[in-house]
Amino acid sequence: MRVVTSVAAMQRLAMEWNQSGSPVGFVPTMGYLHAGHVSLVRKARERVGKRGVVVVSIFVNPTQFAPTEDLASYPRDLQRDKKLCRGAGVDIVFVPGNPQMYPAKPGANFSTYVVEDALSRGMEGLSRPTHFRGVATVVAKLFNIVRPDIAVFGAKDFQQAAIVKRMTRDLNFPVSIIVAPTVREPDGLALSSRNKYLSADERAQAAALWQAIRQARQTVRASTQPIPASRLNSELKWLIETRPAARVDYIEFFDPDTFQPLAKVERGAHIALAVFVGKTRLIDNGRI
Ligand code: PAJ
Repeated sequence: MRVVTSVAAMQRLAMEWNQSGSPVGFVPTMGYLHAGHVSLVRKARERVGKRGVVVVSIFVNPTQFAPTEDLASYPRDLQRDKKLCRGAGVDIVFVPGNPQMYPAKPGANFSTYVVEDALSRGMEGLSRPTHFRGVATVVAKLFNIVRPDIAVFGAKDFQQAAIVKRMTRDLNFPVSIIVAPTVREPDGLALSSRNKYLSADERAQAAALWQAIRQARQTVRASTQPIPASRLNSELKWLIETRPAARVDYIEFFDPDTFQPLAKVERGAHIALAVFVGKTRLIDNGRI
């Protein structure tokens, strides 16, 4: 396994692989890796085969954090990440520094962004207005640097995966986007680097997100009629907020293809939610 820190070196390698015909599988991350990230690496390896190359990038991307968010405290542990990558059979860990990705020369600051203008509007886009602009921009940059044939994203960030797919199609990036299922703890909590912020007490209460998804699914499937989203919404909010540390940011039911919010919920709809547990904001989603 090789660790690459320079954009130019990464681009040179990518060019060589493209010329020699080695398929490249790519997993972009912000590090502090867990079994969810590792499942994406496995999926990438499965797709490119033994002779293909698997690249994981680790970059805590400042442009997707608002000034009030947790950029400075976002968990980092590069030594541990490298070990996990080595164990998972990663070929290249790409760890560009901030100045490599966003050079800030006087008079020549970074000023070009990628904005997806439809799927980004609701949910995470409403709660975090500049977030997806930062995500789309950094993913576009990483695609141009790594030149992957396939890239794997997690269903955990359902809206993000849809926006990356749309950007890839709209801007003709020659890469196939694969979306891999959410990896969960035994009590259903989706693995996330941010779970590290939770106290033991908050950690126990955080299972409420998954319980709400299951509750919605059960209610809808037990009914012969579509169920008003407003009714489900208040039932789930109540269920979640019986935990003293939990406060709902949003719960939304929507069409998983168009992302249009639904007034009535039936099988096949999608639910996404964001919940503060203490100071930590957690997201999850699932098919109803
Ligand atoms: P990060 O939160 O590190 O996640 C990297 C990838 O891992 C994303 O595709 C995410 O959906 C996936 N992932 C996270 N938790 C998962 C879980 N429990 N099960 C399955 N997959 C999971 O998402 C980002 O970083 C950034 O926004 C990034 C795309 C790297 C751009 O900066």
